[in-house]
Amino acid sequence: MKIGILTSGGDCPGLNAVIRSVVFKGTRIYGHEFVGFKDGWRGVVEGDIVDLPLVAVRGIAKQGGTILGTSRTNPFEGPKGGPENIKAMMAEHGIDALIAIGGEGTLAAAQRLHNAGIRMVGVPKTIDNDLDSTDYTFGFDTAVQIATDALDRLRTTGDSHNRCMVAEVMGRHVGWIALHSGMAAGAHAILIPERKVSFEQIAEWVRDTQDRGRAPLVVVAEGFVPEGEESPHSHRGLDAFGRPRLGGIGDIVAAEIQERTGLETRATVLGHIQRGGTPTGFDRVLATRFGIAAVDMVTNGQWGHMAALKGTSIEPVEFANALGNLKTVPTERYDEAAILFG
Ligand code: F6P
Repeated sequence: MKIGILTSGGDCPGLNAVIRSVVFKGTRIYGHEFVGFKDGWRGVVEGDIVDLPLVAVRGIAKQGGTILGTSRTNPFEGPKGGPENIKAMMAEHGIDALIAIGGEGTLAAAQRLHNAGIRMVGVPKTIDNDLDSTDYTFGFDTAVQIATDALDRLRTTGDSHNRCMVAEVMGRHVGWIALHSGMAAGAHAILIPERKVSFEQIAEWVRDTQDRGRAPLVVVAEGFVPEGEESPHSHRGLDAFGRPRLGGIGDIVAAEIQERTGLETRATVLGHIQRGGTPTGFDRVLATRFGIAAVDMVTNGQWGHMAALKGTSIEPVEFANALGNLKTVPTERYDEAAILFG
């Protein structure tokens, strides 16, 4: 078979490890041929293709980013978008099937294309860890490690200057990165989209920390909604899939803390640093196993499925069962962490 691979949506540590294992197993064990689409769905709709022989993927598992490039292009938009145009492009290049490596937006598009008759298999990727039906996505562990290292560093400035340090982390509408990095770094308050908290409560945690002679560290997820507000802070418009671009809540939280406690407070937005650089060992292994499973699914004709981590096993899950629900932080996980606040 001739198989096309694309990486789409935000870049994420581990994408190259997936590409490598797909091509290695597919070429060595099954005798498939591979091509890559440049810049995600943009390359698919425009037929922008590169050959992916074994030699092109050697040694790339440890590289961050994606050798294929990525974009947030919507494959249903534009004059060359939509399933019929994509089928024609595949026929022209002799491509039998696609492997789409991406997050919720990418996989939802992959599902629609599969429903329209395109042979499609998915691999879940996102630092946000918000995809239901897989225990973890690759990229999350790396993002948590980067955020934890950053929080440890912010603490030294907080301790030295006796300031409150606020760190804003990514995660879109779920608080997994904030929860895990905040727990790992021993933050004095963690604010996540799943739990509304008042500014007064946050100030109280900060005062309690200060009263114990500690410099408060507050981690806030970009999607956090303070009590009394309806939606997360967003002032940068919508992305190609109509989703709000989040960010900026860290500054608001810091200003409220300073105002209410009188303690000098600084905000830092970690931003895209969380998606950059080399993947952790955990993410390299997970991404490699996802890639192996994806090429098995293609070979077995399990169209419309994505690879998922269930416990320690990798299993195929139908798009229909995998998408639609966000995997949010359960109440008990937040309550468990909150015991240590203040
Ligand atoms: O989904 C991954 C993610 O990094 C989110 O955490 C964040 O909200 C978004 O992508 C940022 O997107 P962009 O790179 O397009 O600004």
